[in-house]
Amino acid sequence: MQRILVTRRIPQVGIDRLQKHFEVDVWEDSLPPSRDVLIERAQACSGILSLLSDSLDGPVMDAIGPSLQAIANYAVGYNNIDIGAAKERGIAVGNTPDVLTDATADVAVGLMLAAARRFQESIEHVRNLEWSTWEPMGLLGQELGGKTLGIVGMGRIGMAVAKRCYGGWGMKVLYTARNHKPLADQSLGAVHVSFDQLLASSDFISVHTDLNIETKHLFNRARFAQMKKNAVFVNTARGGIIDQNALYDALTSGSIFAAGLDVTDPEPLPDESPLRRLSNCLILPHIGSATFQAREAMAIMAADNLVAALQGKPMPYPV
Ligand code: GLV
Ligand code: GLV
Repeated sequence: MQRILVTRRIPQVGIDRLQKHFEVDVWEDSLPPSRDVLIERAQACSGILSLLSDSLDGPVMDAIGPSLQAIANYAVGYNNIDIGAAKERGIAVGNTPDVLTDATADVAVGLMLAAARRFQESIEHVRNLEWSTWEPMGLLGQELGGKTLGIVGMGRIGMAVAKRCYGGWGMKVLYTARNHKPLADQSLGAVHVSFDQLLASSDFISVHTDLNIETKHLFNRARFAQMKKNAVFVNTARGGIIDQNALYDALTSGSIFAAGLDVTDPEPLPDESPLRRLSNCLILPHIGSATFQAREAMAIMAADNLVAALQGKPMPYPV
């Protein structure tokens, strides 16, 4: 029987599916295996069900050895895997698109609302016993209604965020993407614009592009300086897309209003990171896909990817 390694405990439906076909080794720790431990545990495995916290590059693939034929990432994003290196070695790679689109879009919209309406400061206010009266002038925030939303990367998740904001608040939607998205243009009145135009015109900016060499630190000092002073900036994609020092300066100098982050670089964000202490920066621990439904669906998809690949068939959800 072929062996596979699952690098963390995932919903049992996925494990059950895998156990019908393979000898399954599940890494049970609450923290990810180190690079060396992962290599050691994956020896003689034909497949790995990996998480976004596992870095799988060429040297790791070589150290595991030629038994490795398939990697099923338990995520839609796959910046943790060197796709070129996998291709060179004939290792199939799959991901879990679609099933976490709504869950992630909900977190993006939640962050927009929470950052715009200062939920974090408001909650701290109550917790710290500072709530002494109804404040006519305190904790004032921004409304979404009628504002302009800029979506950076109009893929599935970007589209789902745009849909919510257009339908819910009648927001005007601008977007950047490699190509025009006729469906977004027609159904949401969305307008494909340059990055410069998006930054200058948006009251809310939500990031939905993947992390690659072109998008690394796409949001730098110059980019934050182009945004409106009332801008609310939200990132549910990957932390590396943002220069966090530049974001910190933009938030403390008042050059933008607030930020909501579900992703940081690194993750977890170090205790001493000054972003953790800003009242206008709301940070979540990467919970975009953290719903019962999405995680079960992801477990099934990742398992199906491994089963297909190790039976010599194409993965149903290839990268
Ligand atoms: C989560 O960030 C994912 O890529 O699935
Ligand atoms: C992710 O699924 C995206 O396409 O934005």
